[in-house]
Amino acid sequence: MDTASQDQTKSVLPEGFPPAVRIKDLKAHLGQEVSLQGWLYNMRSKGKIAFLLVRDGSGICQCVAFQGDLTPEVFARAQSVTQETSLVVRGVLRGDERSPGGVELGIKDLAIVHQGPEFPIGPKEHGPDFLLTNRHLWLRSRKQAAIARVRHQVKRAIRDFFDNDGFTQVDAPIFTPSACEGTTNLFELDYFDEGKAYLTQSGQLYMEAAAMALGKVYCFGPTFRAERSKTRRHLTEFWMVEPEVAYCDLNGVMDLAERFVCHVVRHCLDKCAGELKELERDTAKLEKVLTPFPRVSYDEAAAILKRKGVEFTYGDDFGAPQEVAVAAEFDRPVMVHRFPAQVKAFYMKPDPADASKALCVDVLAPEGFGEIIGGGQRADDLAYLEAQLVKHKLPKEAFEWYLDLRRYGSVPHGGFGLGVERTTAWICGVEHIRETIAFPRMLYRIYP
Ligand code: 4AD
Ligand code: MG
Repeated sequence: MDTASQDQTKSVLPEGFPPAVRIKDLKAHLGQEVSLQGWLYNMRSKGKIAFLLVRDGSGICQCVAFQGDLTPEVFARAQSVTQETSLVVRGVLRGDERSPGGVELGIKDLAIVHQGPEFPIGPKEHGPDFLLTNRHLWLRSRKQAAIARVRHQVKRAIRDFFDNDGFTQVDAPIFTPSACEGTTNLFELDYFDEGKAYLTQSGQLYMEAAAMALGKVYCFGPTFRAERSKTRRHLTEFWMVEPEVAYCDLNGVMDLAERFVCHVVRHCLDKCAGELKELERDTAKLEKVLTPFPRVSYDEAAAILKRKGVEFTYGDDFGAPQEVAVAAEFDRPVMVHRFPAQVKAFYMKPDPADASKALCVDVLAPEGFGEIIGGGQRADDLAYLEAQLVKHKLPKEAFEWYLDLRRYGSVPHGGFGLGVERTTAWICGVEHIRETIAFPRMLYRIYP
């Protein structure tokens, strides 16, 4: 239970109100008199009775005001509260299986903390543009709060997994002198007398240095891509976790990725049952996410596309239609490995069995959610990487430090990046990843 929050809130309670309890903890207080501190979600009043749905950020509780139990002033006040009025209620908790959370509060007193004008977001349907412009208020809706709590658990599961698996977290810089994932989507800025700097697209190159120092590392933070694409899967600022492991090959990377994804899904199923229900997520689909994940090569995936008649040019990278079509063949995430080296990043190790392919892997989520992980084994040979920098027109000076990792004790190594928003969208079953981050940054949106 949340005792800290009770202590914090005592001093802001009205005279004579008992300690506040957070809604998620109410069940332990059946029969007791408590205070709830929150906001009005919805109110229905008929004759001698008013039903107030009060939310406090941890859940929603039905509070019932009976005219006969209250002074005329308190009953009138209960009937007058409008949506998102902040209020404190005092009352006795009773079990009620029909109420959300299984408890109901019989109101004895009610104090209004602040009542403003009509809340802009009502129960009626609003368009996505209006909702995004009011994102600071939209966050209060049941659905958005449920997504925020799932995202929190996704991030917690990510940290737990790596912390319990012998990884050391290392923070990668946000300002970088060079590109990691191609030069077409860099956010550029002037960095004093040092010339151009860029917002990081990925912490990977830095994690490679850290892996040579610590063996198993991960970074976890925001990354930036000046994506000109206006799709439901792209943000310009998104969160990525990037593990990197020394003495690891592509198979090791895939083993790690599948264990990791299963852990995150299992954790959310265990911790977010209420949220997933609120989101009407079909959790039977998530229950199927178990190791081993199918592993198909790019060539095998291309054959699937051909058989299904999906438009595709052999040799190209996959876009959403190809990812969705391949993933639809499986009931759990599928790992597509060995894409053509040509369409992938400069740092990938070529397959010794076929140098036209890279030792890389994309993990595609089922149910049309597409790529959630990209990664693979890194080129560990100095001469090869030097040639790749030339081929990709990347400035060698900016990468000297990276080349040093191949000059001093180079070893086979690899890792991957998992996007938090795409993973959260998949687990929640929400269509657009803009709802999975509190304040999404997109091509046409930077407000609020
Ligand atoms: O496949 P990506 O570009 O891989 C990398 O950045 C590697 N350097 C990671 C590594 O090996 N350490 O991106 C990895 C993941 C994608 O699978 C996707 O989940 C997410 O990051 N991602 C995005 N999410 C939201 N909006 C975007 N614009 C994204 N671009 C990538
Ligand atoms: Mg990718």
